Amino acid sequence: MKNVLVTGGAGFIGANFVRYLLRVDPQARIVNLDALTYAGSLENLRGLPDESRHTFVQGDICDAPLVERLLVEHDIDTIVHFAAESHVDRSILGPAPFIQTNVVGAFTLLEAARLAWKGKFEGRRFHHVSTDEVFGSLTPDAPPFNESTPYAPRSPYSASKAASDHLARAYFHTYGLPVTLTNCSNNYGPYQFPEKLIPLMILNALESKPLPVYGDGQQIRDWLYVEDHCEAIDLVLRGGRPGETYNIGGGNQPCNLEIVRQICTLLDELRPEGSPHARLITHVPDRPGHDRRYAMDTHKIEAELGWRPRHNLTSGLRATVEWYLSHPEWVKAIRAQNDYQIWLEKNYTKREEFSE
Ligand code: NAD
Ligand code: DAU
Repeated sequence: MKNVLVTGGAGFIGANFVRYLLRVDPQARIVNLDALTYAGSLENLRGLPDESRHTFVQGDICDAPLVERLLVEHDIDTIVHFAAESHVDRSILGPAPFIQTNVVGAFTLLEAARLAWKGKFEGRRFHHVSTDEVFGSLTPDAPPFNESTPYAPRSPYSASKAASDHLARAYFHTYGLPVTLTNCSNNYGPYQFPEKLIPLMILNALESKPLPVYGDGQQIRDWLYVEDHCEAIDLVLRGGRPGETYNIGGGNQPCNLEIVRQICTLLDELRPEGSPHARLITHVPDRPGHDRRYAMDTHKIEAELGWRPRHNLTSGLRATVEWYLSHPEWVKAIRAQNDYQIWLEKNYTKREEFSE
């Protein structure tokens, strides 16, 4: 791995991965292709470990000539594909960009790699980053998803990610493109855009705003600290077998309501003014088609590549709350983005839109 094209590297996980790779691999040079949609920001890339090995290109993954040029000009041997529309609520309110970026974008990258690498696949790797949501929803007692669980996506977001997974596998089977896939559970940690549950709750609580819990709040996610996800991807890039998929997750976890309560308790300790923050918890109408439970069986990546999460939810949540408290300049800059203001307003009206 010398010349790495990271797509979506100005978003939450992509930016964490760029930092991680520059830190652990002194040889890696990164070309970071990101369209800087509402979810991407150069604020996420401030103070990188080694700026000289990072080139940022603002552009769309659906722009085939641009992608082909980057692959050739930078002699790219490894593609790590994060770029996506990633928020389920937005996919319910407006699915079109999800199909464009997540499906057409993935296709454009796969096709560009196939053409640029022209059958000389030795030493190359296309890694596709995907989600546990492609497997659908688990009942309370069902076993966790494993790599053979049939796909059953239930939101426009997860359906678009499922389509891209199928395309990635098709390029391996049909053309021999050296593709690997990872399907990961819910990430949290530094630089997550505050439309997602954990940062939204932290920032709302700090401003004494309502903490909107969808439905009864008993939905279960398999929370994973973002750095553990980055490490898993790095291990798959180095030791994963082409054509294979690896599930990544943090282990069994409490329900959403419990997560929100834990955030409130941390804030009561770290920012006692406004305590108890749990008084702000407000149950609001549920997300349509809301998946009840996700859980990942991670035996495969543990056995083959020796991966295990280094953070548990207690340590990871504390680190995350502390990060948001100690980065007010990042919060201010993200909030100053026009689209964030629009989203905030929409966030309070979206439940009516959901039910239209
Ligand atoms: P994010 O929304 O924070 O970031 C997405 C990034 O992609 C942004 O920087 C955005 O500008 C960029 N982007 C969007 N459309 C683009 C386009 N057409 N061309 C170029 N760049 C574009 O997302 P995230 O949470 O960091 O997720 C990254 C990837 O990981 C996604 O593929 C997502 O499906 C997957 N994933 C996320 C989670 C999670 O919990 N966040 C869990 C599992 C898998
Ligand atoms: O499972 C992996 C997926 O996790 C990723 O593929 C997605 O990109 C990522 O966005 C995330 O999807 P979720 O829908 O699970 O994440 P979100 O943070 O939006 O919601 C987490 C849970 O919290 C979910 O059950 C809905 C609930 N929720 C969310 C918000 C934003 C609330 O109760 N209130 C809220 O305001």
